[in-house]
Amino acid sequence: IPVEDFDLVIFGATGDLARRKILPGLYRRFVSGQMPDGAQIIGAARTDQDDAAFQAETRAAIIEFGKVTEGDADLDRFLKHLHYVAIDAKGEGGWKELKSKMREGVVHAFYFSVAPSLFGDIAERLAKHDIADDDSRIVVEKPFGRDLESARALNKVLSQHFDEQQIYRIDHYLGKETVQNLMAVRFANILFEPLWNAQYIDHVQITVAETVGVGGRGSYYDNSGAIRDMVQNHMMQLLCLIAMEPPYHFDPDAVRDEKLKVIRALEPVAPTEIVRGQYQANGEPGYLEDAENPQSRTESYIAMKVRVSNWRWQGTPFYLRTGKKLRARTSEIAITFKEPPHSIFEDAGAAGEPKANELIIRLQPNEGMDLKVMIKEPGPGGMRLVQVPLDMTFADALGPDAADVTDAYERLIMDVIRGNQTLFMRGDEVEAAWAWTDPIIQAWDEGKARPEPYDPGSSGPDEALGLMHRDGRRWREIR
Ligand code: BG6
Repeated sequence: IPVEDFDLVIFGATGDLARRKILPGLYRRFVSGQMPDGAQIIGAARTDQDDAAFQAETRAAIIEFGKVTEGDADLDRFLKHLHYVAIDAKGEGGWKELKSKMREGVVHAFYFSVAPSLFGDIAERLAKHDIADDDSRIVVEKPFGRDLESARALNKVLSQHFDEQQIYRIDHYLGKETVQNLMAVRFANILFEPLWNAQYIDHVQITVAETVGVGGRGSYYDNSGAIRDMVQNHMMQLLCLIAMEPPYHFDPDAVRDEKLKVIRALEPVAPTEIVRGQYQANGEPGYLEDAENPQSRTESYIAMKVRVSNWRWQGTPFYLRTGKKLRARTSEIAITFKEPPHSIFEDAGAAGEPKANELIIRLQPNEGMDLKVMIKEPGPGGMRLVQVPLDMTFADALGPDAADVTDAYERLIMDVIRGNQTLFMRGDEVEAAWAWTDPIIQAWDEGKARPEPYDPGSSGPDEALGLMHRDGRRWREIR
């Protein structure tokens, strides 16, 4: 079903994110019939080029990143929707031309795929040249600040020209299929919610492991580290969706109010409950070379124990870990329930003892869920118990098309056009998240400690094991 007719302006249209994600994502929405016939995508960047050059560049990007073949018939039709304006974000060049290309009476969306230092300049010029109005939407990318102070400053600058209802702060993890499924599982079933609290859940593990290093984007990454790059935003959002109270409705502010309450309930994390790591050289360049900073104390791995201080979660820790150059690319949330209070199967034997139920939500790969339950091992060997997964791999349950999950970006861009902010972060949420991470980062800066080294292809530094062993628990394997 096509969305409302729109003009989408992409500032930074020649940049990496536009080439890798935004333009290929729009192409996929076009192929699926969601783009109205009149829709315009207007690239805006500093490079001086015409529509044809932008279209050629986009064609190459879609072929490279969108898994599309050269002769694809839809591609030419899609490229006709593309226009280009050379624009000077800090000056006056190009703004009049941009205005002349925009149509009246359609949705206007402006995607700021540029450095945050340009947000204010662009917002100001959109207002000054009367290009944006009260119904326009703006989309801003991460990093949304690097601490509370800078995030506040960004919110302030944007709010001078746009209302909160017009601002779409992207966290692409919220656009992932399984992440939304988390809400469906929690709030569309009676099964889980009664058990979803400290009385029945022993602990939660959230893992986002990557195999890639930071080579190629070292200068950005070295100023961020895993805490700013992954924890303050993506991991925090996952934590919120697991920990939040049921919103009264699946409505943008209802959902975001509940997430905000979780962030505000996070306890400060003691330095002893955090392990930072940095991958070393091992045949291939280590972090220090990738970051081109031999003195760097930035972490490429972090593991931490987090507590949500409210009635529901008192006593249930959340263990978070994320890192680069790890053994496998795996993102999952594992919820470990408590063991049954009493076992009636005395003769079950060591191997057959009842084990705790687990719910594993796999973000990638093999999007889906597993619910681990105990059953009797089939056969005549007596009442021996065995744990089996109730496997809900989407591809198996719903057919191969379900495995071809919509990329997070394409879904989120269409939500902007539809005017649905549910999967976007609100300004107060982002600020609260920084307010929680700021003291952690400050303590590191003051302590000047080096992160623990770990081997590429491992599960991270050994020290991280201790974080759970101390509590009599263990990390799930990364594979
Ligand atoms: C980005 C981070 O926001 O998310 C990257 O800047 C990271 O460092 C990426 O690799 C992970 O996203 P995904 O969708 O590949 O899990």
